[in-house]
Amino acid sequence: MEIVTAKGLVKDYGSLRAVDNINFEISRGECFGFLGPNGAGKTTVMSIIYCFMPPTSGNVKVFSMDVTENRSEIKSRIGVMPQEDNLDPDLTVLENLIVYARYFDILKKESLPLAKELLDFVEISEKADVNIKDLSGGMKRRLVLARSLINNPELLILDEPTTGLDPHSRHSVWDKLNQLKAKDTTLILTTHYMEEAEKLCDRVAIMDLGKIVTIDSPAGLMKKHGGNLEEVYLKLTGKQLKD
Ligand SMILES: Nc1ncnc2c1ncn2[C@@H]1O[C@H](COP(=O)(O)OP(=O)(O)OP(=O)(O)O)[C@@H](O)[C@H]1O
Ligand SMILES: [Mg+2]
Repeated sequence: MEIVTAKGLVKDYGSLRAVDNINFEISRGECFGFLGPNGAGKTTVMSIIYCFMPPTSGNVKVFSMDVTENRSEIKSRIGVMPQEDNLDPDLTVLENLIVYARYFDILKKESLPLAKELLDFVEISEKADVNIKDLSGGMKRRLVLARSLINNPELLILDEPTTGLDPHSRHSVWDKLNQLKAKDTTLILTTHYMEEAEKLCDRVAIMDLGKIVTIDSPAGLMKKHGGNLEEVYLKLTGKQLKD
């Protein structure tokens, strides 16, 4: 069953066409990755899927509902880990989760045990009463992941979930995402790390200048184009991933 379908999706910011007539379908339980250089349009596509902003034209359905017509129903079933950490700096770690739970009408007596369970899941329980400014970058990322799970989402949208993390924290996040996948949660992610795409994604869309250049499994791409995923990426976008 399709969880997301996009047909002829276009997004303009003024005179800039950030997403240029793209089509894709994402199935239940799949991990689907958007790869591509800075400015390719990845975050824009994600923001449209989680109903943050409407498409300029085209048709996007999530859970078979139109993103422009059923925003609150769709949003209630999605978890989002945005590219920028937008935690509330005036609240503690635990309070950030409790306050966020209110947006989903989760009662305090339910949200407290749930928040503690999620802090445990992302292994930052010992920081529950710490202020956000006293967390490391990796801990903030893990807290945002915990927060995205507060409504037990069927679909999780992860915009560069491990950017800036050390290798240990990155592996720990991959481990958590694989556990969610095993529970049949659908994952959509963007990443600049080809190892991450290979480890997690069933299929990837490689984007450049607002267009999808190709959609395939990492293994399928490597077979078709030869070389590893980094070399495929270079071949298809003309852009190096490393200096
Ligand atoms: N709110 C906005 N207003 C105007 N232009 C925008 C806005 N958001 C993004 N853009 C432009 O749209 C294009 C696509 O941006 P987007 O953030 O979707 O790229 P991205 O693929 O996520 O890049 P990155 O890898 O750097 O995160 C860029 O040219 C960007 O400057
Ligand atoms: Mg982005």
